[in-house]
Amino acid sequence: MSQFEYQNNQLHAERCSLSELAETFGTPLYVYSRKSLSDSYLALERALGEFPHLVCYAVKANSNLGVLSVLAKLGAGFDIVSQGELERVLVAGGDPSRVVFSGVGKRPQEMRRALEVGIHCFNVESSAELTVLNQVAADLGKVANISLRVNPDVDAKTHPYISTGLKENKFGIEFSQAVEVYQTAQAMANLNVVGIDCHIGSQLTELTPFVDAMDRLLVLVDQLAAVGITLKHVDLGGGIGIRYEKGDVPPTADEYAQAIIGKLQGRDLSLVIEPGRSIAGEAGVLLTQVEYLKPTPYHNFAIVDAAMNDLIRPALYSAWQEIVEVVPRSDTEQKQWDIVGPVCETGDFLGKDRALALQQGDLLAVKCAGAYGAAMASNYNTRNRPAEVLVDGEKAHLVRQRETINQQFALESVID
Ligand code: LLP
Repeated sequence: MSQFEYQNNQLHAERCSLSELAETFGTPLYVYSRKSLSDSYLALERALGEFPHLVCYAVKANSNLGVLSVLAKLGAGFDIVSQGELERVLVAGGDPSRVVFSGVGKRPQEMRRALEVGIHCFNVESSAELTVLNQVAADLGKVANISLRVNPDVDAKTHPYISTGLKENKFGIEFSQAVEVYQTAQAMANLNVVGIDCHIGSQLTELTPFVDAMDRLLVLVDQLAAVGITLKHVDLGGGIGIRYEKGDVPPTADEYAQAIIGKLQGRDLSLVIEPGRSIAGEAGVLLTQVEYLKPTPYHNFAIVDAAMNDLIRPALYSAWQEIVEVVPRSDTEQKQWDIVGPVCETGDFLGKDRALALQQGDLLAVKCAGAYGAAMASNYNTRNRPAEVLVDGEKAHLVRQRETINQQFALESVID
């Protein structure tokens, strides 16, 4: 159930009115629902039930400390891709022994820190990385648990920029080379081979690619067993889609879990998953105010105070996200509007051709903005990044203050 519903003709986040939040905290403003975050996480937990598993929330989707702390309190694991994300997890109270470290370009310093705090596993993406990790672990007198990310070459049938499991992608180890790379890893003194992983892409709305990827991984699990390498876990990555559009019908937590667990029955393997979007995506909206209405003979433009620097998905992937009025009007006629930001780029839009009844000063909410929204925000055009609020019932916690110009300047200097 969505936590963003109308009550008395006002869009709310749980029991907080979005108009009131906009008045208190200003716009553009990201608003998250604690209940939505918890419900999505717990739905996966419950669906996996007694099957041995670890749900590692992909921090990159939304790395706000408030958001991470909600998940840490529920006992979530975390999937990280940098030392920065690791530090966030630790500050938010996450358990390092439930952290997996993904990414193609981990640096030695990042590996060192992860080894020191005792993460669960490194998801290694190349032979070269194995060599470096083995050395770093040896220098610390430690043994690193590793999984190899293999490229199962399945088509995730999603946007090419967020499809990662095809053989031409930079990610993972070529399927046909995997056994050999595992043997190399096995022979390294400071590595402990524990798993296998993949991540085939993001915003998947069908189960088949996940099931196909699992089948491919299990072929390798068997080939490895035949050469004496026994794995403890399979990590299927993230990728479960959300309902951006009415036509998007992603698998439910139960459907996903049943399909995947079904493949693992009778095997002595636990399951790791790395969901990001499916936990944070529907838990957030981006609130923005209409600055100006600019009807032209070709397009009606509604110029709002949020821009591509705040939410880049529409500009970057032509992603469609629903845009709704916070207080729907009956006194104004609906028109087709292009919702655009103040940034000096034609690609700076949040949505095109949307039927809305608008007046200057109205508030709009861009839905499903909890994942890959604030996390991908930038300072382009020297715009301060938005504030973020985490709602819990009728309470609103400011979990990130609005950035200031002085904070933006702090790392720069003029010269004589
Ligand atoms: N694990 C790995 C190794 C990943 O690369 C990703 C996402 C995830 C897990 C989490 O995937 P999710 O469950 O969120 O689909 N910025 C893009 C999405 C990029 C996803 C990158 N990797 C977007 O806004 O659509």
